[in-house]
Amino acid sequence: MNILITGGAGFIGSNFIRYMLTNYNHKIINLDCLNYAGNLKNLRDIAGDSNYHFIKGDIGNRSLLNTVFQEFEIRVVVNFAAESHVDRSIEDPEIFGKTNIMGTLALLDTARQFWKIHPQNKFSREFKENVKFLQVSTDEVYGTLGTEGYFTEKTNLAPNSPYSASKASADLLVRAYFETFGLPVNITRCSNNYGPYQFPEKLIPLMINNAMKNRAMPIYGDGKQVRDWLHVKDHCTAIDAVMQKGIGGEVYNIGGNNEKQNIEIVKLILKALNRGEDQITYVTDRLGHDKRYAIDSSKIKKELGWSPSYTFEQGMKETIEWYLKNQEWMEDVISGEYIRYYDQMYGERGIFLPMTQGVNGLEAEVFDK
Ligand code: NAD
Ligand code: DAU
Repeated sequence: MNILITGGAGFIGSNFIRYMLTNYNHKIINLDCLNYAGNLKNLRDIAGDSNYHFIKGDIGNRSLLNTVFQEFEIRVVVNFAAESHVDRSIEDPEIFGKTNIMGTLALLDTARQFWKIHPQNKFSREFKENVKFLQVSTDEVYGTLGTEGYFTEKTNLAPNSPYSASKASADLLVRAYFETFGLPVNITRCSNNYGPYQFPEKLIPLMINNAMKNRAMPIYGDGKQVRDWLHVKDHCTAIDAVMQKGIGGEVYNIGGNNEKQNIEIVKLILKALNRGEDQITYVTDRLGHDKRYAIDSSKIKKELGWSPSYTFEQGMKETIEWYLKNQEWMEDVISGEYIRYYDQMYGERGIFLPMTQGVNGLEAEVFDK
């Protein structure tokens, strides 16, 4: 079977491609435009696999999509490609609309045309054509929770950031292509992932990198916001389960049942690396900061038999070890654009990266506001 994986050079996509090539004999076509987070070094170990093909391109490029679908006779699409960082969406929302909404729309149209889907299909709930469009979405489309309760698949969509609004918009388009055209779709909504190859703009790799280098650890607001953490490999097995067994048109929530406050995570990282808590620096809060995410995963567990395999302690231990072992990977991704981003995001919060030792030897300094 030929599977189109979009955004496969990013964090979760690259982990998923490695998982698929290790466990199956499918042909994997990775379409990725290689934005700042897309990195072919995430796939260096499997780049020579005869079942793997990389195409550099934009999911919004319809003529490219037609060629790819035709040439590789694509049967399954797993759409990871997205602008994925909330803070960037607050600084510059437009690209989030372009990629996350319009890009998904182009993929949906191409799949529908190429697979010659009949609208009646949706009534069978089993798609005999053996094709599927799997949209990788996020729990952030549900907005925020108070101190109690969980997001279920029936929770209303109430996104609060331009990022989550763009992901929610894409989800609605995916749903509409099922309802109107009978396109065989599934949507997965996962909680916060962590693990190897995550771009260090996200909390865990950013804090591991800063802790290792004795830099300030910037906590937004009071640090008491809660996220539900899932190891990326558990996300991969969940997507696999949905790809194989998901019922047409259904949404599946995926979560780790690991609710942690941000401050707890940062303290855990400091302790694991034998660093003192004086590195913790409270900074101006994120605009529209969601207070708590927590996922009810009972549907995917009950209906598809999925469950996570990592405990948070084991997953974090392995993850910290991975970043310690792969400092060359880290140095590579934090050169160039990362410096501009860091200055823009954290400079206004009083934390700078003065280039005292060249790109590979950056030392942070905290300045009084
Ligand atoms: P990432 O930013 O690490 O990777 C995104 C990838 O998409 C990059 O390789 C990038 O080059 C590519 N891309 C961006 N725009 C593109 C375009 N127009 N055409 C082709 N490729 C493009 O993101 P991630 O953390 O790996 O997230 C992957 C997906 O999973 C996203 O859709 C995200 O919304 C979703 N998700 C992420 C998390 C998480 O915790 N990271 C949780 C739930 C869902
Ligand atoms: O819930 C799933 C989502 O998780 C995904 O859809 C997104 O793609 C992914 O980026 C992630 O979104 P978050 O906004 O939750 O993740 P982030 O790592 O950016 O932040 C996690 C928490 O840590 C959040 O409450 C903000 C806080 N934070 C983050 C950074 C980068 C800080 O306090 N300081 C920081 O420097």
